[in-house]
Amino acid sequence: MKKDSLSKVHPASTGTIKWSCPSNIAIVKYWGKGPGQLPKNPSLSLTLQKSLTLTEISYKYEPSSTAKKISFSFEGEQHPAFHRRISDYIRSLHPLLPWLEHTSMVIKSFNTFPHSSGIASSASAMGALAACLVSIEEEITGTRVNDPLSKASFLARLGSGSASRSLYPGFALWGHSEAWALSSDEYAIPISGIHDTFTGMHDSILIVDPGKKKISSSAGHALMESNPYASTRFKQASENVSKLKQILLEGSWNRFINLMEEEALALHAMMLSSRPGFILMLPGTLEIIRKIRDFRMESGFHLGFTLDAGPNVHLIYDSAHANQVRAFITSDLIQHCKNKQVIHDEMGTGPSIQKI
Ligand code: PMV
Repeated sequence: MKKDSLSKVHPASTGTIKWSCPSNIAIVKYWGKGPGQLPKNPSLSLTLQKSLTLTEISYKYEPSSTAKKISFSFEGEQHPAFHRRISDYIRSLHPLLPWLEHTSMVIKSFNTFPHSSGIASSASAMGALAACLVSIEEEITGTRVNDPLSKASFLARLGSGSASRSLYPGFALWGHSEAWALSSDEYAIPISGIHDTFTGMHDSILIVDPGKKKISSSAGHALMESNPYASTRFKQASENVSKLKQILLEGSWNRFINLMEEEALALHAMMLSSRPGFILMLPGTLEIIRKIRDFRMESGFHLGFTLDAGPNVHLIYDSAHANQVRAFITSDLIQHCKNKQVIHDEMGTGPSIQKI
């Protein structure tokens, strides 16, 4: 969202706004939350480049009417479950954005990644929607929002916690951390000053199973309330955010990989030790992890894995050995992917407003 020195926007009561927003993959994981979608620990993520949601909203603001209507389509088709989630989310924002009560919207959303790829689309979808809402607010009120990305991150968080981190390029931090003065539980902040060695890092997403999540993230977060290891985990994540700050500034790939893998395994350890415990990794996930570690030992290249709340593996590697790692994926890893599906993504430049 462009910062503009002018604080006035040409006011409008109808218009169309379109934003693209990327997905992100957490390096330090968010798993466990309190009321108001506030995180139990800070998390830090890599913004992706190609895995995007594009959301277009045509709005009509009628201050004298509350007969607002929200229509929603996903990839050109009706999607009742998404429609319900978006409508509930928008309704929950009425106290914060009172103009919403008088605004009808036609929302059209598209993903650049395959629908059933196992990539969590809530981060990019909520990020794009929140960015559109901030732009619409600017048009309706005729006033620029102060720090619009931060406001979009705040609004996105209320829809999906991890979405708060999708609003920035490179790396983003969500949640209060003593290591970062401006960090907040309410919204994410961008991380700057990253060492050049990490610029353009790759994330090849190995799709072991593209199926719908066996357990929703809300249910997973809720199970942290009775997890016997929860407090230790929240402390570990906070410490890892502080350690990661040093690592990102100093440029140590080995320490980055160790921390990233520790975090992925800790996330799944929380799932295994929940009551009841659940297992999202599949045999292919474990095979891929073993092969990545063996290949790293043999080659000395900078590559490591992380996991989301599912069986798919994010293979993170530096640009210096991208060709060799791609060859390794083809020769050794792709056989564990459903329909040989791999999404080659990389560090991204963040959301952007689109020309209509
Ligand atoms: O934003 P949610 O509620 O879908 O939670 C996401 C949790 C993880 O993806 C597993 C970790 C993270 O920090 O993104």
